[in-house]
Amino acid sequence: MAIPPKAPNAPKSPMPLSLPKRQRPQPQPSQPPQHPPTAPQVAPRPAVPRAGTLSIRAKPAPERAQKFFAPCPRGLEQVLADELVALGAAHVSATDGGVGFSGPFTMGYRVCLWSRIASRVLWQLAESEYRHEEEIYRLARNVDWPHLFSARETIRVQVDAMRSPVTSLEFVTLRVKDAIVDRFRAAMASRPSVNTSMPDMRIHVFLTAYKATVYLDLAGEALFKRGYRREGLSAPLRENLAAGMLALKGWTGQMPLFDPMCGSGTILTEAAMIAMHVAPGAQRGFAFEKLRNYDAAAFRQMRDGAAQGVTPLAAHLLFGNDRSADAVATTRRHLQNIGGDATATAVTLTSEAMETLPAPAASGLLLTNPPYGERLNELAELKAWYPAVGAWLKRTMAGWRACFITADRGLPGGIGFKPSRRTPLFNGALDCRLFEFELYAGSRRTDRADTDGAATPKIRA
Ligand SMILES: C[S@@+](CC[C@H](N)C(=O)[O-])C[C@H]1O[C@@H](n2cnc3c(N)ncnc32)[C@H](O)[C@@H]1O
Repeated sequence: MAIPPKAPNAPKSPMPLSLPKRQRPQPQPSQPPQHPPTAPQVAPRPAVPRAGTLSIRAKPAPERAQKFFAPCPRGLEQVLADELVALGAAHVSATDGGVGFSGPFTMGYRVCLWSRIASRVLWQLAESEYRHEEEIYRLARNVDWPHLFSARETIRVQVDAMRSPVTSLEFVTLRVKDAIVDRFRAAMASRPSVNTSMPDMRIHVFLTAYKATVYLDLAGEALFKRGYRREGLSAPLRENLAAGMLALKGWTGQMPLFDPMCGSGTILTEAAMIAMHVAPGAQRGFAFEKLRNYDAAAFRQMRDGAAQGVTPLAAHLLFGNDRSADAVATTRRHLQNIGGDATATAVTLTSEAMETLPAPAASGLLLTNPPYGERLNELAELKAWYPAVGAWLKRTMAGWRACFITADRGLPGGIGFKPSRRTPLFNGALDCRLFEFELYAGSRRTDRADTDGAATPKIRA
């Protein structure tokens, strides 16, 4: 995975990176995890300004290490943990649905700009044990919100819970919003208003059976919204899922990559950004830019450093195809959006039925997202089509590793191959599998010639 060099003097993670046991049930795919009990993270501040104070001076970003949590699509926690370590984060700890880490406050900027896999970066503001809703209100009321952002910013509170005894998450959401508003009212005449669709500040609260944690989302819009997708065909993959699959398969831009059903080109565009060292957040803004403590000079330096590290895309590295010419045109535009014409023309794009194509190189990684067949008639079409896919893989793609992400568990049986790996992954709410097949022209006893005389690739079990 293309990752910028570590921050100077970045501490090494002293924590093991292994995933803890799954903690189920957990109702939402991106919930913050449990953390060990700690004191609230906002540095103690002097007395709150009296009611009626109209201006609040920004305080510098806290100097001591801060705690963060980065949610990600389920199944990508370990590759996100690896990415965070490479970015210089400390205390990196993967759990169900995301990864906790710590670092200086600007580590939050860095992860927002550079993480290809995180969905958000949540900055931990406060945490404590609780028994009832009013203790959660007090925890949120203790955060010095007016020193974090102005009353002009709109807010949205989201509460997620795992085995929490509270009876209504809506009521907790309301009480946390009240806490923020009350804290503003105690400091000044104005208060932020609520905007649930496009808020400036997103406040996340995560409740376990006994502990409440309050976070501020530094990213704002989800990090998979990179800014290059200005249009979309139906059923695109989430950008961070595409990047995460490339990381899971160890693709770093060294070997040919082929997406024969590329749709709007999410896998190819993410791969191009990895190969060119383009920061995934280079084209977008972040919520932290609206914080009072925003260090514009530090972030400009990060952005400038990222822009200077971009390299051109090599030819004969990325290959895409879709039988829909519209899809190929969209892929081309997405590639142009990240690197102009030079990037788009460096990618070999065709518009054919996949099963008629020759292999674009002697070996490499085929990574694709076939139609899922969610509707019954589509499923029947898929089942009828799979044997042709299997025959094409055998006939044409020996020497390649082929990976398919699909919600259809019947794909391996349909194409007639046994997967060497199957990784559970979520594409949004869809419970998918990433099936991997290793295809190599074998010479073992069980080989037989296909009717066209080609050797049958072996499938490693
Ligand atoms: C689920 S979409 C891929 C979405 C893509 N990953 C994205 O992020 O936009 C599946 C794509 O497979 C294409 N497709 C279906 N059958 C095909 C075939 N036999 N040959 C080539 N493309 C095909 C469809 O046109 C569609 O664009």
